[in-house]
Amino acid sequence: MEVSLVERGLIFKILALILIFTFFLEAEQTSDNVQIAVAPYLLPDNHLIKPALDALFSSSRVILNLDTLEEAGFTKTKPRKFTKLIVTSHPDFPGYIFKLYLDSQRYYKDLPEHHYWILRAKGVKKIRREISARELETLFKTPHKWIYALPQHPRPPEGYYTKQYILVEEDMDLLSDEENKALWASDAVTTEVLDHLFAILNKIGLRDCAKPDNIPFSRDGRIAFIDTQTFGIKNVRYEKLNDYLSKPNQAYWKMITDQ
Ligand SMILES: Nc1ncnc2c1ncn2[C@@H]1O[C@H](COP(=O)(O)OP(=O)(O)O)[C@@H](O)[C@H]1O
Ligand SMILES: [Mg+2]
Repeated sequence: MEVSLVERGLIFKILALILIFTFFLEAEQTSDNVQIAVAPYLLPDNHLIKPALDALFSSSRVILNLDTLEEAGFTKTKPRKFTKLIVTSHPDFPGYIFKLYLDSQRYYKDLPEHHYWILRAKGVKKIRREISARELETLFKTPHKWIYALPQHPRPPEGYYTKQYILVEEDMDLLSDEENKALWASDAVTTEVLDHLFAILNKIGLRDCAKPDNIPFSRDGRIAFIDTQTFGIKNVRYEKLNDYLSKPNQAYWKMITDQ
């Protein structure tokens, strides 16, 4: 059967329309899926700082780059060594810290930022449940973490790696790096603390949390689990803590972690 040129043209147009339609449908579904995935962790609409965050992030594209971030009042900072994460705070939001990627930054390991925020928010819930189940609130704590959806406008210009979400956390009021390391090497760390720490790390599989940087002491004397991204891992790196402990604690830690 001969197909006329007009009919061919028509078939081509229909196919093109179907293609365009499925493309938009998939894009829509993807963004729907992301919204469903982040929903359990979103900063609630009635949260105290939500209106002020909306006002701030609507007034300019705050997270475009380090300069715009600073111009919007966030503390000066630079991307962290391995994760390239930006950790910052803002004088208008005392008691909170912010973790984010800038629009000028490529997607870390080619994954959109919400992937990491969901992991961190999920991890922290597991830790909180464990601290509570073991009734260890006097020894350990962990911050509440919420995913904040940036307003739709303003958007970054063409050519940037648009980010849609940032992470908001309670500020754990940590000791300085030196104070923290000094405390980890002291008798403030008892064998009881080490027993409980091992139990939590082991139960949740917190691979990177056996080091003072990720479980620093807070000014209130408690140990804060702050780096909650990597959980469910069999091989927790217990040995990372060895060098930071006093000699007797080091021997005890090696024994209970079977090194
Ligand atoms: N909830 C928090 N409260 C106070 N300081 C924090 C908090 N979370 C992170 N920080 C600070 O930011 C640093 C980096 O955070 P972290 O989540 O460990 O990032 P990374 O995954 O890059 O190691 C921490 O070492 C700590 O100094
Ligand atoms: Mg860390």
